[in-house]
Amino acid sequence: MKTNSFISEQELTEQKQIASALSQEIRARNLKFFVETFGCQMNVRDSETIKGWLSLIGYQEAADKETADLILFNTCCVREHAEKRLMGNIGALKELKDANPGMIIGICGCMMQQQDMAKKLLKRFPHVSLIFGTNVLHRFPEMLRAVLNGERIAVTDRADDAIAEDLPKLRDNERSAFVNIMYGCDNYCSYCIVPYVRGHERSRKPEDIRNEIVSLTDSGITEITLLGQNVNSYGNDGSAGMRFADLLRYVSDVPGLKRIRFMSSHPKDLNEDVMQAIASLGNVCHHVHLPVQSGNNEILKRMNRRYTREHYLSIVSRLRELVPDIEFTTDIIVGFPGETEEAFSDTLSLVEEVGFAAAFTFAYSPRLGTVAARMEDQIPESVKKQRLKALNELQARKTVENNLKYIGHIGEVLVEGCDERGEETMLYGKYQNFKMVYFPGCKELLNRYVTVKVTKANKNSLLGEMIDA
Ligand code: SAH
Ligand code: SF4
Ligand code: F3S
Repeated sequence: MKTNSFISEQELTEQKQIASALSQEIRARNLKFFVETFGCQMNVRDSETIKGWLSLIGYQEAADKETADLILFNTCCVREHAEKRLMGNIGALKELKDANPGMIIGICGCMMQQQDMAKKLLKRFPHVSLIFGTNVLHRFPEMLRAVLNGERIAVTDRADDAIAEDLPKLRDNERSAFVNIMYGCDNYCSYCIVPYVRGHERSRKPEDIRNEIVSLTDSGITEITLLGQNVNSYGNDGSAGMRFADLLRYVSDVPGLKRIRFMSSHPKDLNEDVMQAIASLGNVCHHVHLPVQSGNNEILKRMNRRYTREHYLSIVSRLRELVPDIEFTTDIIVGFPGETEEAFSDTLSLVEEVGFAAAFTFAYSPRLGTVAARMEDQIPESVKKQRLKALNELQARKTVENNLKYIGHIGEVLVEGCDERGEETMLYGKYQNFKMVYFPGCKELLNRYVTVKVTKANKNSLLGEMIDA
């Protein structure tokens, strides 16, 4: 059985002491930070930790980059265009830095874990002074102190290390929160860079997860999303003493916890036990984000996904049998090396058959160091573009079909936001199965649960009316 290592309490106390020693001066100077986050929920969650440290160190959040004294980009490298965009973004900050020479510009996140990237960026952008990777967030105060003392640093220790518990965090809402249950990924899908940059899979202890959820619900949070690259393999290495279905059962009775979401699910590990847990636990939401990637068995094999089209479809039909109102969302890649027109048409037919509520679709992007990037039969960009367009058109039609099912539907919605449109205030929020609905109401209902009836289905959204606040 595997055991994970943890950052010691003493080490964390030392970092908190550094933070508090820095905070007097930072507060006196009224300094502000701006953190911009790219990529997936992992990065969103990491940014909450970084913002938590920055607050502890005495910084306040700035409304925009122009009024910030510290700007940090939390980066993603899952596809190539993210990289190009980042370079443009950093280049553009040179002017701000010239106008405010004391400004600190930093870059962190997944892209910094790529071989030699940190060094390369430090050299290329003299106005950047703080670079760090995904596995050293617990050392943020020490890193920032060095930069405040005039150093330029890049700290990107390998991501295979210890789990850090009890780091500070600053959240941007009072209703809903992300909770990591595991870090890293061991699946090595042949196209994917995540295992290389985020390191091997490590599961947090169930007690630590539950304690975090208890403290969140104590502070008024009612909805949590359990996060992992593949939540269904939680504890598979034996280190946690329980598996994902047990974890769902173990946290589901936390008082005040109305909704449990989780993502992402990998089809190869979504077993009957997990399906039974979804069906039987009252507060586990009836929504599964289940990336299929392709509908063709040959491509799935070359992607190293380790399931077949048939297996995928069997999960969908079993879950629909157990949980009739369940909704599925997915991720799909088109133009994977070797994808023929016929293989692509299998993806279209799968999308037709399943009827996803929504799909996140991507043109295959070769990532340095991955197996698929070395495959011979790469697909021309123009073909990828055509296929993406065809797939998106099909999904748009399926989204409308899915929306139409909801006319007359009545259910509880957690209010997430409001749009002031002239005279009228429109609220929006989600049913427990992830469908979003817009309806007239007042701002005071933000973060509350209200009952909404769907009256109209638009192309991309549902409209409704409140029947009970
Ligand atoms: N762990 C999650 C996915 C994380 S990455 C899972 O396995 O479901 C999010 C999505 O980005 C993937 O599902 C995939 O559809 C897409 N993606 C990953 N690598 C890609 C690449 N090289 N090119 C295009 N899309 C990619
Ligand atoms: Fe990437 Fe596959 Fe891991 Fe998801 S499961 S992060 S796609 S390697
Ligand atoms: Fe991107 Fe890192 Fe997530 S590469 S998709 S931010 S794990």
